[in-house]
Amino acid sequence: MRGFSHRSRMQQFGYRKEDFVGKPVVAIVNTWSEMNPCHSHLRERAEAVKKGVWQAGGFPVEIPAFSITETYMKPSPMLYRNLLAMETEENLRSLPVDGAVLMGGCDKTTPGLLMGAISMNLPFIYLPAGPMLRGNWKGQPLGSGTDLWKFWTERCAGTISETEWNEMEGGIARSPGFCMTMGTASTMTAMAEALGLTLPGASSIPAVDSNHVRMAIDCGKRIIEMIWEDRKPKELLTSESFDNAITVDMALGGSTNAVIHLIALARRCCLDLKLNRFDEISRRVPVLADIRPSGRFLMEDFYYAGGLRALMAQISDLLHLNCRTVNGRTVGENLEGACLNNSEVIRLRENPLEASGGTAILYGNLAPDGAVIKTSAASYHLLQHTGPAVVFTDYEHLDHQINREDLNVTADSVLVLQNAGPLGGPGMPEWGMLPIPGRLLQQGVRDMVRISDARMSGTSYGTCVLHVAPESYVGGPLALVRDGDLISLDVPNRRLDVLLTENEVAARRAAWSRPAPLFRRGYGSLYAAHVTQAHEGCDFDFLETDEGTPEPEIH
Ligand code: FES
Repeated sequence: MRGFSHRSRMQQFGYRKEDFVGKPVVAIVNTWSEMNPCHSHLRERAEAVKKGVWQAGGFPVEIPAFSITETYMKPSPMLYRNLLAMETEENLRSLPVDGAVLMGGCDKTTPGLLMGAISMNLPFIYLPAGPMLRGNWKGQPLGSGTDLWKFWTERCAGTISETEWNEMEGGIARSPGFCMTMGTASTMTAMAEALGLTLPGASSIPAVDSNHVRMAIDCGKRIIEMIWEDRKPKELLTSESFDNAITVDMALGGSTNAVIHLIALARRCCLDLKLNRFDEISRRVPVLADIRPSGRFLMEDFYYAGGLRALMAQISDLLHLNCRTVNGRTVGENLEGACLNNSEVIRLRENPLEASGGTAILYGNLAPDGAVIKTSAASYHLLQHTGPAVVFTDYEHLDHQINREDLNVTADSVLVLQNAGPLGGPGMPEWGMLPIPGRLLQQGVRDMVRISDARMSGTSYGTCVLHVAPESYVGGPLALVRDGDLISLDVPNRRLDVLLTENEVAARRAAWSRPAPLFRRGYGSLYAAHVTQAHEGCDFDFLETDEGTPEPEIH
């Protein structure tokens, strides 16, 4: 009866029974949308994946999924990562499919798709959308985000004209694909490859390169083999896989957002990945990718230099080479023959961009559960700094105050933003690169110590302490800081402290009260009731279990 209905409905599409009966059914989960320019080519790529599935004897079905677009979504795309994860898991659970090819790339789409598919635990391959081509302005390459922030600062300082600004606007995003700096998109797609969830080399191919089309076809072919082999993600992903991903993240000078997403992904595998593991690995891994914002080049250059395989080959002694990947081979086997074509873009071990650690984890009385700083994109002279706090109680307050002539601030001040965390933001918006006050910009100041419970775009830079946990909205110590309090940042010793007596902290805590709820209904209220803190991955507490796929109990 059920079979009759399934078969007749598939014939309603125009298929004959022999097109699908007895064949593995592959879901092509597509995050294409006309509001997501990073994924504007994914309809075409879905056709290429289908070609591969047909060639290998399978039956492809394309399934749309929530397209989290970094550029347009309010209040923060991070609010919706878990929604995409839920949608992906439920699509794969509720539909009669045997495996999946997941297509995404714009920041949150990678972790969202992976989290859901890992929980469902069907065979899958991740196909990254690929970075866009280099931006161009008057013959000089422009990098997504990074150069926007840089030239916006100059525009505010009055050194860039409106005409020049408009020229940049037309030249910075020249093709389909995601941001081509080492932002969150390039970092997270590289994490997917380092975890063994893509075919080798997939994360570095520019979106519009014909190799990207061939990679899509290869994914379609390979998923059929994976289905017959019953190769499931939870059997591939081990704590060593996550160590590999963190190691690659550090060598890339990757986005700080990777810290949150990797913890969430590990917890979906029931692995207790601690925040401090990033610091332990960071200390022994050199930064080799000379890519903006930490370095000079862009993802297109990275691809021509040999891509992620070339970088991983450089640090192969730091990787667990026996971890298995979706193509059935080990990480080590996939690195055989990797070729480094340009040692300026991917540095040699003896000539790193930084000798160690792109990311440091800080603890102290201001961040009992930790905070994150991207040291490779920070100013060296500010890594040990004590200065008086200038406190903004939320983003609106910041927006109104930051350029006031009478703001009591100097280059030595520490800018503090409260109520920008997972609950307070909500969704930890990427406000962590607080703007430099206009008056200081005019004086030539380009970096200051900035502290918040927000995130920061992977394309951003500066001495920005992020992800302070617990967040201020739930009463973390950041909520108690006031103007003029001395704050001490000591990155070499991994400390972040406010120099107050315990009595003073206790008195302020007694006077503190939690802000009113931000949501009274809808997805926002579900989010607020269940999201975890930054050091726990910001997943929903009811999704990070290993109780298997939730089939309803029918009595
Ligand atoms: Fe999509 Fe940057 S806006 S990756």
